[in-house]
Amino acid sequence: MAAPVVDAEYLRQVDRARRHLRALISSKGCAPIMLRLAWHDAGTYDVNTKTGGANGSIRYEEEYTHGSNAGLKIAIDLLEPIKAKSPKITYADLYQLAGVVAVEVTGGPTVEFIPGRRDSSVCPREGRLPDAKKGALHLRDIFYRMGLSDKDIVALSGGHTLGRAHPERSGFEGAWTQEPLKFDNSELLKGESEGLLKLPTDKALLEDPSFRRYVDLYARDEDAFFKDYAESHKKLSELGFTPR
Ligand code: HEM
Repeated sequence: MAAPVVDAEYLRQVDRARRHLRALISSKGCAPIMLRLAWHDAGTYDVNTKTGGANGSIRYEEEYTHGSNAGLKIAIDLLEPIKAKSPKITYADLYQLAGVVAVEVTGGPTVEFIPGRRDSSVCPREGRLPDAKKGALHLRDIFYRMGLSDKDIVALSGGHTLGRAHPERSGFEGAWTQEPLKFDNSELLKGESEGLLKLPTDKALLEDPSFRRYVDLYARDEDAFFKDYAESHKKLSELGFTPR
């Protein structure tokens, strides 16, 4: 589909959507699933074929029914009324804006948002998102395919400061931190803590020396974590999109 024309009216609707998103996310406590939706729409990007990415294709049944997207229809539906009130905004922009606002309203860093993503109706094949049961090699395969780096992998994995796993969605259970609605570096990527979740991929970040460098930095320095997270999140939110 054609790129949207980002004129004054488009920007006005982005501002309006941002306000509606803040209200929705605070009233429903749905920041975690909004961030996960944004990440799963963008994280299908393939830098070699230039397919997938932050293009709104996750709104189609073909894609949201992929195993790794279990539960995300809830977020898609919650955003429909906001789309109806700001109809010019593409789904691709709306989903990424929701991810940015989710991080902001839970106390995380401000992630720069540049509008103008085009929507696509072409869904990527299943299997482009990471498998939580695997290790460092797999994480690198998946994130390098998106064109992202080791630093991005660790910083973005900090997104698990929000939310929890649901047995009926992923087969895993529990939250990563004591306060799953607060974006911070507490518990972040620490060793096993009682009652808290640690996916095999989270453990891989502690075991691999190149990842571990960033884990240690982010655990002791929240400012460094926020700065790098904001940069990596912006990159993620722009996969397949070149801002003008
Ligand atoms: C949830 C895996 C990276 C944000 C989950 C869940 C799994 C998972 C298994 C539980 C889903 C459920 O049962 O509801 C992974 C793996 C990653 C990864 C293997 C590879 C590094 C990321 C990234 C972000 C992110 C990059 C965002 C920057 C989230 C959030 C939730 C979540 C916010 C909580 C959702 C909720 O509470 O409903 N992830 N994830 N994840 N993930 Fe990830």
